[in-house]
Amino acid sequence: MKLRENLLTIEDLYVKAQDNLILKGVSLEINLGEIHALMGPNGSGKSTFANVIMGNPGYSIESGKIFFHGEEITNLPPDERAKRGVFLAFQHPESIEGVKVHQFLRMAMQSRRNKDVSVLEARIELNDWMKKLKMDPDFQKRSLNDGFSGGEKKKHEILQLALLSPALALLDETDSGLDIDALKVVADGFNLVKKENTDLGALIITHYQRLFDLITPDIVHLIIDGHIVEKGGPELVNEIDKNGYDKWLTRV
Ligand SMILES: Nc1ncnc2c1ncn2[C@@H]1O[C@H](COP(=O)(O)OP(=O)(O)OP(=O)(O)O)[C@@H](O)[C@H]1O
Ligand SMILES: [Mg+2]
Repeated sequence: MKLRENLLTIEDLYVKAQDNLILKGVSLEINLGEIHALMGPNGSGKSTFANVIMGNPGYSIESGKIFFHGEEITNLPPDERAKRGVFLAFQHPESIEGVKVHQFLRMAMQSRRNKDVSVLEARIELNDWMKKLKMDPDFQKRSLNDGFSGGEKKKHEILQLALLSPALALLDETDSGLDIDALKVVADGFNLVKKENTDLGALIITHYQRLFDLITPDIVHLIIDGHIVEKGGPELVNEIDKNGYDKWLTRV
């Protein structure tokens, strides 16, 4: 097998949130272009893991290291990681109330590309992707806090992913709350982004097998109580879906 260049390396990470130890020695490697799945019961540390890779200041790293493209980023602020190409979909904090979708996306594109993107340039790219994602063109005129439906939020995530063209996409429950048609649009959208950027690496967090029927993961990790307890191929998703987590829970 051809050796692929390393994209993300996590070394023995211990992470606390408000004095609770949540990640208890997690190591993981993602190479360029690989799609990884992270599965595990509620509260096992999946979202914490994605947030720590993005640099969310709400979590403190007790020990361990994070490398991105071979450079240590353990202590870099989130905006610096985003500029380097780490992507975690934006969750609409209230601080930017009033900002329209198209304004927000243009700002994000400029920040990621580190250059000015004209209104026209942004509009052309935006319209192109909105069409591909089967989104109503009027969506871009809405305010970011404008009561998006579950499906709209998730499509907006994929829209951000497409326009920011990151090197690593962290997708946390991008499929939750989607009806079957919207799930297909979101998965097709991801696959399209991936096709245009075959080097895109991804860590996809979900509870359900159905997403992985549409997006094929290369490697599947199972996390329980802050430990990665199993690593396998796509067949691990089916095993979890069929038998649940019992087999591993008894071992922890
Ligand atoms: N900011 C925080 N402060 C305190 N505790 C937290 C914080 N974030 C997460 N935790 C705790 O850490 C544990 C892991 O949470 P996390 O959100 O990472 O789980 P998860 O695997 O994503 O779960 P789910 O499948 O329900 O989304 C939980 O017990 C949670 O309550
Ligand atoms: Mg979670």
